[in-house]
Amino acid sequence: MKDIKVAIIYGTRPEIIKLTPVIRILQEKNIAFFCIHTGQHYSTGMDAVFFEELLLPKPDYKLEIGMESVLRHGEQIALMITEIEKIFLKEKPNIVIIQGDTNTVLAGALSATKIPESNNMPRIKIAHIEAGLRSFDWKMPEEMNRVIVDHISDVLFVPTENERGILSLEGISDSKIFTVGNTIVDMIKQSLDLVEAKSSILRNLKLNKDGYILLTLHRQENVDSKENFSNIIDGVSRFANSVNLQVIFPIHPRTNKMLEKFNIGLPKIILKINPVGYFDFISLEENARLILTDSGGVQEESCILQVPCVTLRDNTERPETVVVGSNVIAGTIPANIMKSAQKMMTVKREWSNPFGDGKTAEKIIDILTT
Ligand code: UD1
Ligand code: UDP
Repeated sequence: MKDIKVAIIYGTRPEIIKLTPVIRILQEKNIAFFCIHTGQHYSTGMDAVFFEELLLPKPDYKLEIGMESVLRHGEQIALMITEIEKIFLKEKPNIVIIQGDTNTVLAGALSATKIPESNNMPRIKIAHIEAGLRSFDWKMPEEMNRVIVDHISDVLFVPTENERGILSLEGISDSKIFTVGNTIVDMIKQSLDLVEAKSSILRNLKLNKDGYILLTLHRQENVDSKENFSNIIDGVSRFANSVNLQVIFPIHPRTNKMLEKFNIGLPKIILKINPVGYFDFISLEENARLILTDSGGVQEESCILQVPCVTLRDNTERPETVVVGSNVIAGTIPANIMKSAQKMMTVKREWSNPFGDGKTAEKIIDILTT
């Protein structure tokens, strides 16, 4: 095994969740690592709750660079780079692991590329988990982050062969690409028994299996546009009324802020609740009749948990879910949301999971250490 020191960088809810299996393997194998939390997400329900319930070690470095303390994304990324660089120079890791497509991921990757190798500083290899995803939609801040990070990474861990193909077409050398699945499968497998034991959300909300629809929304292009946001609420409530099912809506803080700003009223059929912890959320997903979402992770989880999903966007960077039949792309126009949701209510739940066998984290660490 190579002598390595790993830096793990995370900052948002999905990164904390999807890097948990990787951190667990590093701990199991006694590999030297430290964690930097950029603080991009900072509210208790978006951050602390996961450390507590997933028994994650506290980050070694906690930055506070969420959007409440900066004005613009550029400033946020610049501040993150400034702080991460100082930590890299002190800790001298030889690998940095980042996951996904957030501003935190972009800042982590850029920080590593800008430190020259020297006598007392190794070159920092960038390992990107969930590489190769593309929505081909340049209006999404995440699309730019993904493309830049993939092109400056040394090791690219793609979930399926589809993303390998995308990276090859972009000219990235095949020798850098490893198809390993997605760590979210590991996470779900490691959590299902605990969900059973620890989650009481169905009881608390008086919900029955298949007796409700689950909704999440947070994409900039949806909730920062009054027209798109209102259209989605209109389409979702019309559909929910037509099938007489309550909608449970754990609301992302960004979405809540914009709901208030645009003064959009929620009809009674949509029940807004605070964001919930991971075990409660998996329980809400597992038992839902249907999931409506614009989240990337939720499209994957619904596919893995065999619950039909309707994506409230015009595209997806997770086309595997559409190919296997667990997901349809509805967009944001009410009539299309109705049509797609009706279709997914009758779909047979017999697709197979394209995201791997739950051993993704182990494969990643094996590849990085041999
Ligand atoms: C970010 C990521 C997105 C990812 C999502 C996961 C970028 C550009 N976007 O979007 O790719 O899918 O995280 O959830 O990196 N807020 C709080 N408390 C928090 C976090 C956010 O109140 O803990 C509010 C703030 O008002 C903030 C807004 O949400 O301004 C947006 O937060 P930000 O981190 O910029 O983007 P997300 O929409 O969370
Ligand atoms: N999630 C959660 N509580 C919630 C909503 C979502 O724990 O109230 C989890 C969900 O299980 C998934 C992840 O958050 O693993 C998805 O994060 P999000 O939708 O914020 O981001 P994206 O995946 O779109 O980047």
